[in-house]
This record gives sequence, C-alpha cells and structure tokens, in this order.
Amino acid sequence: MSQHSSNRGTSADCSVGLPVSWYFDPEILEIERRHLFAAGPRYAGHVSLVPNDGDYVTLGGQQVGRLLVRHNGQPQLISNACRHRQAEMLTGSGHAKHLVCPIHNWAYDLDGRLVAAPHFPENPCLDLERRKLTEWNGLLFEGSQPIHEVLSPLASWTELNTSGYVLERIDEEEHDLNWKAFLEIYLEDYHISAVHPGFRAFVDTNDLRGALQSVGGERFFCEQVNVRWPLPAAGSPNFAAYQRVLQEMLPGRRPPFAAIWICLFSGQLIEYYPFAVVTTTYLPLSPTRTRLRTEYYFDREIAEMRRDYVAAGLAVLDEVTSEDHTAALQLQAGRQAMYQLGENSQGPYQVPMEQGMRRFHDCLRTIVENP
Ligand code: FES
Ligand SMILES: [Fe+2]
Repeated sequence: MSQHSSNRGTSADCSVGLPVSWYFDPEILEIERRHLFAAGPRYAGHVSLVPNDGDYVTLGGQQVGRLLVRHNGQPQLISNACRHRQAEMLTGSGHAKHLVCPIHNWAYDLDGRLVAAPHFPENPCLDLERRKLTEWNGLLFEGSQPIHEVLSPLASWTELNTSGYVLERIDEEEHDLNWKAFLEIYLEDYHISAVHPGFRAFVDTNDLRGALQSVGGERFFCEQVNVRWPLPAAGSPNFAAYQRVLQEMLPGRRPPFAAIWICLFSGQLIEYYPFAVVTTTYLPLSPTRTRLRTEYYFDREIAEMRRDYVAAGLAVLDEVTSEDHTAALQLQAGRQAMYQLGENSQGPYQVPMEQGMRRFHDCLRTIVENP
C-alpha cells in the first residue's frame, strides 16, 4: 500500500509524518548520530552534582565514559578512560585532589593533566580529554551548538532557573523503541486526553486545543501547559494525592504552570513541573533499542521540608511516564508490522496539538535529505 492510497485527503495540509522505515533503518540512525547527536547541545548534568572544588561524578547517557569534575570553581567534563590502557578510573561520585587510575596508578590533576606515571623515566604527557561546559539555568551542556544560542528564544523565561535545585533520583533503563518515539510523545498533546486519565484532569484542555504557549527553534521545541483552575476532582489516585499537597503548599493560588516541556532534538528532554525539573537523555543503541537516563531534581527547600510533595510528585511522574512508554510501544509495534510487510503509511499533523512533532520531523527531514 502506498502512502497515498489510504489518504482520503481530509487535510488541506498534505504534509505527513516520517516514513516508517526511518524508525528501523541503520543508515538513518547513522545520519542522525553524525548530524544531530554529535552537534549537540549535549546535556552533562546539573551544577548541584558537583557543588565543591574536587567533587566528581561519573556520567551516563550521551556522556557515558566521562566525569563531571569541579575545579577552580568551574564544572568541567573529563574523560574517565585512562590514557595508558584505557581503564575506567573512577566509579560513582566522590571528592579527590587527583584522579588516580587503579591499574598502574597513573595520576591526573583535576584539569586532566597527567602528573605521575610510575616507573616511566619521563612524563608521557598523555592528558585526559577535557571539554568545556556551559551552564544554562543550572544545567550544564557541551557541544558545538552553544546552548544559549539554541535556546535564545527562552532567555526571558525566568521560571526555568533551577540553580537552587538538588538531585532526588536517577533512573537508567533501556527500551525496545526507536529513540524518536520517546521525543515524539512529548512533542504532541493530541494523545493526552486518551492516554493520561490523571494528567488530563489536571491540565487545562482548552489550552491544549488552542492558546498553547509554545516557542520553537530549528533544533528545539518548548511548550507550556497550564493547570485547570479551579482544580477539579483528580483523575487518578496519584493525582489526588499530588493535587492535595500542591494546594496545601499554594493555598488558594493557581500554580504558575502544570508543565513546561523543552525538547532538544539532539535527544534531550527537560521537563519542568512546579518545584521540580526532570532531565532525560536518549542514547540510541540501535534503530530499535534506546538507553534512557533520567535525573529528577527538586527545589532544595521543598526537598528538605516537604517530602510529601516529593513523593507525590514522583508518583505522578512515574504514572505519566509509564503511560507514555506504553503508548510509544504501541506506535512502534504498528510501525514494525508495516516495515516487515514493506508497507508505508503516515497521517497528517493535528495543529496546534502536533506542532512540536511536526517541527521535529522537519528538522530530521532537513538533516537526512542534506546530510
Ligand atoms: S591503565 Fe591506567 S595506569 Fe595503566
Ligand atoms: Fe504523554
């Protein structure tokens, strides 16, 4: 069946989603890796992971094999692979004056310079690779695309500042999904009313259908959804607990937003909820398998004083994320069946609810067609 044979021409706008093969073709993934992921911006971590000079933490996601180290007040990215025989040097997090390899004790300073190589007559001068990081609202990024330039349309959004936040939890998992499927589900609101019974009661559905506050660039899309007000009865037990604590903390006041989602097309999601930010990095292992690393941060005062809010917030996030993963798996299953049969079919975009996905697809089409 061709793409056109099943299209009854219901949309004046004939642009449609990506070809089914783009979710399975290793050559497409190679182009995405080279022209999208490699350029970045690549998220490294939150400033609170290394609060003091000498603090280090090993990273995952797109920064696997690297350390976040604070030296002379600056967080920097340093390779965790020894220059002698490439051993992984440090695990977890800690505090150090030098980075010392456990195998033959080569020692590096916190800038990555080799300062000792036992039993070598001269220093082999093999320093660890070091990369510069840029802080944006408490989040650290590297890459040839400067984060402040990429996200310049958001420069006036003061609610995005997370510099006073602290880490609550890290999840690392793998799923049998193309990496794009994860981003797509965050780039459209069309599924919310069918897929998220708890979340759909919490957010203002009039916003979803019309006056969405959204900002986009060539390589990102940002969208704000607002809390339905006054808050109605909750749509799930998790949301009932969350809404109760939120109302206790903001008595009589409408929360400033329900969610702000920033999607960097280079495989990075940044989700804001009241008093919380969640970063998820997507690392494609193959066209049909993706590794995720998710970090949950909360406002420091809330994390210390309102554990009930943290618990309720994590529970609703887990509920919505699990519903999204189930939906993404269904999308992938349908595409996989078509791909195996050599078929292709895609429908039009619902605007405004699928405008973010459309922008993402336009970016991918540009990259794949002009690699
Ligand atoms: S592998 Fe690190 S010192 Fe030899
Ligand atoms: Fe969703």
